[in-house]
Amino acid sequence: MSKDTFYLTTPIYYVNDVPHLGHAYTTVACDFIARWRRMQGRPVHFLTGTDEHGEKVARTAAAKGLTPEEWTDEIVPRWTELWAALDISNDDFIRTTEPRHEGPVQQFMTALHQRDQIYLGSYEGLYCVGCEAFKQPDELVDGNCPLHGVPPEVVEEDNYFFRLSDYRQRLIDLYESNPRFVMPEARRREVLGKVRTGLDDLSISRVSFDWGVPVPWDSKHVIYVWVDALQNYITAVGYGSDEERFARLWPASVHMVGKDILWFHSVIWPAMLMALDLPLPETVFAHGFLQVGGEKMSKSKLTGISPHDLLPTFSSDGYRYFFVREVSFGQDGSFSWEAMAERYNSDLANDFGNLVSRSLSMIARYLGGVVPAPPEPSELTEVEHGLMEKQRAALAGMVEAIDEYLLHEALRSCWSFVRGANAYVEAVTPWGLAKDESRRRRLEVVLYQLADSLRLLAVMVAPIAPQAAQELWRRLGEQGSVHDRTHSEDARWGLSAEGTQIISGPPLFPRIV
Ligand code: MSP
Repeated sequence: MSKDTFYLTTPIYYVNDVPHLGHAYTTVACDFIARWRRMQGRPVHFLTGTDEHGEKVARTAAAKGLTPEEWTDEIVPRWTELWAALDISNDDFIRTTEPRHEGPVQQFMTALHQRDQIYLGSYEGLYCVGCEAFKQPDELVDGNCPLHGVPPEVVEEDNYFFRLSDYRQRLIDLYESNPRFVMPEARRREVLGKVRTGLDDLSISRVSFDWGVPVPWDSKHVIYVWVDALQNYITAVGYGSDEERFARLWPASVHMVGKDILWFHSVIWPAMLMALDLPLPETVFAHGFLQVGGEKMSKSKLTGISPHDLLPTFSSDGYRYFFVREVSFGQDGSFSWEAMAERYNSDLANDFGNLVSRSLSMIARYLGGVVPAPPEPSELTEVEHGLMEKQRAALAGMVEAIDEYLLHEALRSCWSFVRGANAYVEAVTPWGLAKDESRRRRLEVVLYQLADSLRLLAVMVAPIAPQAAQELWRRLGEQGSVHDRTHSEDARWGLSAEGTQIISGPPLFPRIV
């Protein structure tokens, strides 16, 4: 039986720098899912945070003339501020330098050690500090890390090792018996193929620097940053500190990650959990990479765009909508100002914004801004039935798409109703009905259907455009927050109350010229 709470996580971000579009992409996608699940009436626990140990962060701090503690304290607010600006609704934010993380990580390592899952060995290998990972020679391109474009460093030291190789068959069985453990399917096959070719034990400690959690039984060593970082998913929900909470929230429903860090999440992490007989996450979903103008993002080029550069023009809602709608979730995608402006104008300013403006202004003009009596079944014609069917299909399409993590499909499905509602306006021409007093009741029926469409849309778009949805909710004269509503209670036709005063207002999404 799956547990009640939907627990989802973003990766925890390295704080060697400020956030860029790629980081915001993972977080926005997770926020969309978190908000959606809450409105489905499910308790949600949404975790994000920062990964603060390791050589990369230590070197950044040193280059600034700061201690790692000073540096991380200085930069973490840049991350939390961005999440606030993007309306991210995380329930918790964990920093790996917090005692609630470091203590339980040491407990976890001690438990592994006691179970003879760890031994001391020596290692000689190539280490990429950018990835914080050892590289095999065949992973390099012209001697460079393909992600960071620089040669890895030669590392030779005594390290503790985790017996990862012992878990090869159990991992294979996991991927084979549980097709949802790694998603999308192509990634599952990729991981399965790679694990089949064999697994080496994993070096899990370092001695050449000290910015990390000390190995509890040998303080010359610090725990390898990835082994420390992965545990945030359990320490944040009470592992080693609050067993009742841990039992309630763990395992995670989904770890959302970029494809570059899938190996850590789909191989190393489940093996670590298996080693302590802890439950495994339900799904690890790997999304693709964002490029800018067809190129990898780079700070030193024009492709190094900050999310803050886009927010004044597109707003948080426009930002969230664009990235989730534009990129097929799971595939690589790209950002350009042109594509973003075009999609914003067509989907948000035109389709959605115009539907809202014209519906509200017709109710204001023809009915004094008051929601009329809901139609009797006999008053509904084929066009109304078509409209209602469009909405039901759109919502069902969203449910199905989000269950499969096809987030872009969910928005496409939602917008089929937006377009359906615009087509309804064109078909029933309320302005024509308004000229004929004998058709007054027909006009009321049509405008009721439009008010009700907007109410349904506020509920349906709330997870992706939280501000516009709330503003629409308010203009419709609805009480409280749309974000507290649920599909089962509110995503039904006929719930707009007769006599409610609606308010028109400026465009929800002003056109970008
Ligand atoms: N600290 C590790 C994660 C530890 S999780 C236990 C890490 N941090 S990161 O800051 O480098 O990256 C975090 C996330 O951002 C990853 O999911 C990564 O895939 C994502 N992105 C970084 N650049 C990206 C793009 N250009 N496009 C899309 N996502 C990308 O890895």
